[in-house]
Amino acid sequence: MSLREIDVKRYINTDLYPIDKNSVNAGLIARSHASIKADGCVVLKSFLRSERIEELVQECDRVESHGHRNFTRTNPYFTNDRSDLPTSHPLRRFYDRSNAFVPADNFGSESILRAIFDWPAFAPFIKEVLGEEKFFPYADPLADVTVNLAEQGNGFPWHFDTNNFTVTLAIQNAESGGDFEYSPMVRSLTDENYSVVEKVLDGDKELIKTIRLEPGDLQIFKGRYSLHRVTPLSGLRKRYVAIFSYVAEPGMVSSPQRAKELYGRVLPIHLERAGLRADSLVD
Ligand SMILES: [Fe+2]
Repeated sequence: MSLREIDVKRYINTDLYPIDKNSVNAGLIARSHASIKADGCVVLKSFLRSERIEELVQECDRVESHGHRNFTRTNPYFTNDRSDLPTSHPLRRFYDRSNAFVPADNFGSESILRAIFDWPAFAPFIKEVLGEEKFFPYADPLADVTVNLAEQGNGFPWHFDTNNFTVTLAIQNAESGGDFEYSPMVRSLTDENYSVVEKVLDGDKELIKTIRLEPGDLQIFKGRYSLHRVTPLSGLRKRYVAIFSYVAEPGMVSSPQRAKELYGRVLPIHLERAGLRADSLVD
C-alpha cells in the first residue's frame, strides 16, 4: 500500500472533528483557542476512531525495535552543568532520563502516522488551533514524525522542548503511570523565568497541571515554553505516543548534540544548520 492509498478519514474521527470542512469548525477552533491561550495546551479526546487504534498499535509494534534508547542524566534544557551557579538553579537540576524515540525515517510509505502528518487538512487545522502565523513542519528528517516509546520504570523528567509546538497522539498507555504533568507557559522567548521554574522543579502543586491521555487522544501543546514531564510507568505494556512536530521558522532542525542524544545519529543537515537558530533560548 502506498501513502496515497491510505484514507486518513478512516483513522481520524472526522464525525467528531470534521477538520477537512472549515465551515463547521468554528466552535471547535474557538474552544481550542481558549484552552491554548489559558495554558498552552488543548486535548481533543477520541481524535482517532477507536476501532482503528489497534492498527496504529501494530504500526508502532513494527518500528519499535528501531527506537533509540538512552539513559542519561539531564537538566531541563539538555545543557551542561554550570558550576558557577547555585546548586538549586534549574540549569543545575539533573535528572535520570530513560526513554526511546523511533526516528522519523523508519516508518516508510505504509505509515498511517506519516499519512496523517501529510494529510492536507491536518497542518492547517493545527495551525489555526495554535493561532500561529508562522507555522512550518519541522524540517528534521529524524524528528518530524516520531514515536516515543517507554517501558516499565521509564519516565521523562522535567524539560522544555526544542520545537515551538508539539502535537502528540496517544496510541497505547502503560498499565499505570505515564501521566502528563506541565507548568503552562512558564518561560517566554525573552524570559527564562528561572525562579518560577525552580519552584516547579521543587514540586509546587499550584504551578503544575496533570493530564491523563487515553489512546486516540490528540494533544496540541506549546512545549517550548511550558515545563513538562511524564511520570514513571509500571506494568509490562509499552507506552506509545506519536509526535508530530511544527516550528516557527522554515528549515529548523535539531542541534547536532540533541539529534545524537534523542535519535542516536547526526545527519549532515544538523551540522549544516547548527547555530542558525533565530532565537536565543538556552537549549
Ligand atoms: Fe517534551
